[in-house]
Amino acid sequence: MDLPQTPSFRLDGRRALITGASRGIGLGAACALAQAGADVVLAARSSDELSAICDALKQAGYQASFLELDVTDVATTKERIDGAGPFDILVNNAGVNRPGPMTTMTEDDYDTVMNLNVRAAYFVAQVVVAQMIKAGCGGSIINTSSQMGHVGGIDRTVYCASKFAIEGMTRALAIEVGEHNIRVNTVCPTFIATPFTAATLADPERVAWIKSKIKLGRIGEIEDVMGAYVFLASDAASLITGTSLLIDGGWTAG
Ligand SMILES: NC(=O)c1ccc[n+]([C@@H]2O[C@H](COP(=O)([O-])OP(=O)(O)OC[C@H]3O[C@@H](n4cnc5c(N)ncnc54)[C@H](OP(=O)(O)O)[C@@H]3O)[C@@H](O)[C@H]2O)c1
Repeated sequence: MDLPQTPSFRLDGRRALITGASRGIGLGAACALAQAGADVVLAARSSDELSAICDALKQAGYQASFLELDVTDVATTKERIDGAGPFDILVNNAGVNRPGPMTTMTEDDYDTVMNLNVRAAYFVAQVVVAQMIKAGCGGSIINTSSQMGHVGGIDRTVYCASKFAIEGMTRALAIEVGEHNIRVNTVCPTFIATPFTAATLADPERVAWIKSKIKLGRIGEIEDVMGAYVFLASDAASLITGTSLLIDGGWTAG
């Protein structure tokens, strides 16, 4: 009897670009993809950190290199990605938050968050998708969104606007590139302990609020999100596109 075989979760022979890979969730995603067999290219502004991470990955037997990239500089980013591609997998992850009540938000806060979380992510996806279409081999685009792309959060009017925008971009792009076998999805974490959340997680009142919302009762760790990137990049997710994978410990369940 021929039993169905689980499609592979391995990524051998695939090349992946990960933005915001010098720390936090991007670093976790890069390590996860490398450990699953992908040749990973880590991008961020801090080349010293990227170089040290690549050395550690290579010492562990994985394939890794890096691109020093400020993704808000769209022209240079397009040029560098053009020179380094094509890629089979993009983790579009670099992001920032400027939390605070709306009445305190400045134009600089608004522009900084939107510029990185939406504008830069859009044009990184544009150049990678163009390469994927030209190469004709399909691909997987994984945008790091947030649970805050699905619900509102305290002090997060601008951040939520940026992550809801990424959710919209993901769905529209999935419609556009499905015929090229390019899948586009988001990973939507809850609060994960990274430098990004250090200030929020240093406030006991906020931690109590967060734990009251997460049904599993704990703050996330980088390891909690790693498997999602491997899954969405792999053949195991070959019919999954235009959707979100929430890693929220049940926050959005109610
Ligand atoms: N941590 C959470 O609780 C959480 C929850 C949901 C969603 N997210 C999302 O997950 C993503 C990563 O968050 P994180 O917690 O890992 O943040 P993080 O620890 O602050 O890391 C952010 C990464 O983005 C890079 N980056 C920032 N500005 C950049 C730029 N202009 N060009 C290129 N790279 C840039 C940083 O590297 P350099 O400084 O070296 O450039 C760093 O590698 C973000 O999109 C965030 O919105 C985070």
